Amino acid sequence: MSATSERHIVVLTGAGISKESGLDTFRDADGIWAKVRLEDVATPEAFARDPVAVHAFYNARRSRLAGGGVHPNAAHEALARLAGEWPGRVLVVTQNIDDLHEKAGSRNLVHMHGELLKVRCAACQRVFPRTSDLGVGDACGDCAATGTLRPHVVWFGEMPMEMERIYDALSACALFMSVGTSGNVYPAAGFVEHVGLSGDAHTVELNLEPSVGASLFAETVYGPATEVVPAYVDRILEQGW
Ligand code: APR
Repeated sequence: MSATSERHIVVLTGAGISKESGLDTFRDADGIWAKVRLEDVATPEAFARDPVAVHAFYNARRSRLAGGGVHPNAAHEALARLAGEWPGRVLVVTQNIDDLHEKAGSRNLVHMHGELLKVRCAACQRVFPRTSDLGVGDACGDCAATGTLRPHVVWFGEMPMEMERIYDALSACALFMSVGTSGNVYPAAGFVEHVGLSGDAHTVELNLEPSVGASLFAETVYGPATEVVPAYVDRILEQGW
């Protein structure tokens, strides 16, 4: 067993952590994929076929997030507190494209599925902050190409971001926490198995209900994120796991 200061934590988060901040999940009964087909808005093929529809989908979500009415909740805040108080490293890997972890104060953070408040030029690859709507005729502020700006998000069929950094952290962690994710989407859904293969790290799922991969975790805690995450963080800061 390594010393406490060398015991690193990786936290994977999904849409469930932002649900109590007012943002919809994807696969719950009232979730985003119950209202719109992901094949129509979240693939490169959809964007090539109908960029107006894809922009409309992300513009609506972006304006809601940028509008000032969406705030981090007690679960985001607890994870930021964990990073501040835990003597080892804490890396938060989020599948969420909202900015609630950073608003809560998390700094060691990977947005593996990208960020809603950024756009990218498909021609020059420059990434720009963006809070306003994006249109098909907009010009890149760097290379001046038109029609090349796209949401800086990872669509189905594309490679998630910063995977090497994530796998390095997973291989070195002593605790892997999975929060608010249904376990349907790879590679994130496979992180718990990667942790299991590379050592004796403890694994815990904190979710409203058992995820698809619940049986792969050594410990499971079920309830709303704003209740179970602060309580779990308190526990590990007091006595470890
Ligand atoms: N507290 C904790 N968990 C919750 C809460 C809550 N208040 N509300 C819902 N959940 C749980 C649900 O029970 C579900 O297991 O959060 C999970 C959300 O699952 P999904 O909607 O599938 O979201 P996620 O796992 O983040 O999806 C992964 O799929 O479509 C893509 O790119 C999208 O990043 C997303 C990826």
